[in-house]
Amino acid sequence: MPRKLIYTLLLIASISLIPMGYLYKSTRDVKSKPRIQVVYDMDNQSSYGQQKENDFFADNMSMRSHPEGTVARGQLNADDAFYRGTNEVGEFITDMPVEMNMDLLERGQDRFNIFCSSCHGQSGNGDGLVHRHATILAEGLWAPPSNLTSKVVVDLPVGSIFNTITNGIRTMPAHGAQIPHQDRWAIIAYVRALQLSRNAKIDDLPADTQSALLN
Ligand code: HEC
Repeated sequence: MPRKLIYTLLLIASISLIPMGYLYKSTRDVKSKPRIQVVYDMDNQSSYGQQKENDFFADNMSMRSHPEGTVARGQLNADDAFYRGTNEVGEFITDMPVEMNMDLLERGQDRFNIFCSSCHGQSGNGDGLVHRHATILAEGLWAPPSNLTSKVVVDLPVGSIFNTITNGIRTMPAHGAQIPHQDRWAIIAYVRALQLSRNAKIDDLPADTQSALLN
């Protein structure tokens, strides 16, 4: 082969490596500008940044607030009884807005023991661990948790208890953020069961249980 041809081929071979080198370099380089894109798709669209001016709107702000009265999807919560424990004129309801059954009570027991028993005690009579510890510390300013089986709470409408769980009352903290609505009603159902059991008379028991106890 003539020398000239060999040199030319070598030259062509080395030149043909240059584009490959560029390609390799471009995949490693960090640049402030976007890379050259052959197909744009919808990658780069013009949009306003947060807190930026925008003279399209009268207030010159690009960020828009929700129109008044906007409700997020699935959060209308129009059922006052279920979501707020109130009737159409805003009074606390006295009847449970959910179906009472064993599942509800068991769920209520579970949630009550987690969220309420620390203060109100497992039987609801106000002697939870937090209360007992606070009494030992005797640092003052401790308001004892209510006895949930007392006549005062027995006489409270369920809607009022719902409101107490949701928003707290006096020194009791709100639990609305931790406990979903359905669970709040489950807890109330269980509180009612605790009240029944704590204030039960022998006449409240089924006849066969009564006779078994009496004999
Ligand atoms: C951090 C302690 C604490 C926890 C937890 C707690 N409570 Fe209370 N609760 C209190 C205290 C304290 C009071 C009494 C407030 C007062 O009278 O100043 C109270 C009062 C109440 C009352 C009486 C309200 C009234 O109208 O007088 C109800 C009903 C009640 N709690 C239910 C619950 C339920 C149900 C839970 C669980 C979801 C719960 N509490 C969790 C501390 C607690």
